[in-house]
Amino acid sequence: RILILDFGSQVTQLIARRVREAHVYCEVHANDVGEDFIRKFNPSGIILSGSYMSAYEESTDQASPAVFNAGVPVLGICYGMQTMAEQLGGKVEPGTKREFGYAEVRARNHTKLLEGIEDFKGPNGEGMLKVWMSHGDRVSELPKGFVVMASTPSCPIAAMADETRRFYGVQFHPEVTHTEKGREILQRFVLDICGCKPDWEMGNFAKEAIEEIRRKVGKDEVILGLSGGVDSSVTAALIHRAVGDQLTCVFVDHGLLRLNEAEQVRETFEKNMGMKLVMVDASEKFLSDLKGVTDPEKKRKIIGRDFVECFQSEAKKLTGAKWLAQGTIYPDVIESAAANTKKAKVIKSHHNVGGLPPDMHLQLLEPIRGLFKDEVRELGLQLGLPREMVFRHPFPGPGLGVRILGEVKREYADLLKRADAIFIDELRAAGWYDKVSQAFAVFLPVRSVGVMGDGRTYDYVVALRSVETTDFMTAKWSQLPYDLLGKVSNRIINEVKGINRVCYDISGKPPATIEWE
Ligand code: XMP
Repeated sequence: RILILDFGSQVTQLIARRVREAHVYCEVHANDVGEDFIRKFNPSGIILSGSYMSAYEESTDQASPAVFNAGVPVLGICYGMQTMAEQLGGKVEPGTKREFGYAEVRARNHTKLLEGIEDFKGPNGEGMLKVWMSHGDRVSELPKGFVVMASTPSCPIAAMADETRRFYGVQFHPEVTHTEKGREILQRFVLDICGCKPDWEMGNFAKEAIEEIRRKVGKDEVILGLSGGVDSSVTAALIHRAVGDQLTCVFVDHGLLRLNEAEQVRETFEKNMGMKLVMVDASEKFLSDLKGVTDPEKKRKIIGRDFVECFQSEAKKLTGAKWLAQGTIYPDVIESAAANTKKAKVIKSHHNVGGLPPDMHLQLLEPIRGLFKDEVRELGLQLGLPREMVFRHPFPGPGLGVRILGEVKREYADLLKRADAIFIDELRAAGWYDKVSQAFAVFLPVRSVGVMGDGRTYDYVVALRSVETTDFMTAKWSQLPYDLLGKVSNRIINEVKGINRVCYDISGKPPATIEWE
């Protein structure tokens, strides 16, 4: 297995993704882990990530010397290469030119890492790579034992290697997809150079995870807050596979769910999979607590608080429970670890999960905390969850509460649910649902004049939102075909009495957010 040390780059998770895609298990840890940790982890190879820091400044982070003494191959990426150079006796200095974005690097010397990997031939027949660079500093002097592995006109040492010790450094980012041969380079490193076997598979994962859950839980009872989202659904299916009826799922319906969502959850989990499911219809409570509240942050707080209260009061009725299961996934783990070491710059805190009722003394069970989202989806399919559920767009914890602008009313929620369902229906029918990252309708509590048949209408407005994104931190609005938008608009206005106008949101994030509140 591979150890990835994180120096705070925005793309460290992508390194882990690429390694997992090569079917090799890896974990991301903070860059300051010590010798003991590295010895216990017993990695077959170590990757040092990039960073926003500068390696030649004194205050910057270094890798533990144990990294270079472990006797295993090491790959430094960007800052990782710079700190490798600096720590092993080379030099790093501010570059005269910042390189940012696309670059073409010339591969030099035959090294095991790059041999035979090229995008095209250079003027002298040498291998050229199309890569993505993002750096100001550069290595200006090689450490002893290293040779130049690749270069660009503005960065003569764009990659370096010491093949005796199996240390490699690349100034470019092989983990991003813009580096066309990046995947191949990382595979070369983990499979050929580190000698890892490509045996990390979801099938094995499920089998081992099920055994582990059985061993941990024994005869105890487990509670899980099911939201209908991918992570909690897959966690439920996995634990159910392991311990059957010892698992009880609690589903809190706050009345702000998508059309028929509660029924679908019941159908999938209770009817088809035979799970024990407690459904709490708490819509009265939520709606009455939200009455008269228009401030978005206040609305979120009320929904969050009510959610915790409802979940905990149900959980307390299950007196035999010893475990609380949660659908925490690897990006959540990396984000909170990064938040703890104050390295990450952008952190979002959303409330979805009910949390631990403090007086119940429950232990946490998080069986998918090592998986990435697409791995979770693959596992979901393997466990027999319906495809539509596994590939469903994300849905915020506060639900329609943040998609009904201003005061939330049941009447508005009913209109919005139906408009949203029509939009999603048509996206699916046109083959667009899987192409966009998230799509939904938003209810605007303003009324405008319209004409239908011979009559005048004075009704509400719905806005459609559809975005494409990979990380949900930035997003582009989807360029949906006009015909499709036209059809959705027609159907909503004809079928949802109370809505007489439909708009399409063409704002990117930033500056707009994906949700309207
Ligand atoms: P924004 O609106 O901040 O949303 O651009 C980014 C992503 O996060 C989702 N979102 C939430 N998810 N609880 C969640 O689980 C929340 O409170 C919440 N607020 C926003 C949003 O749907 C989008 O996918």
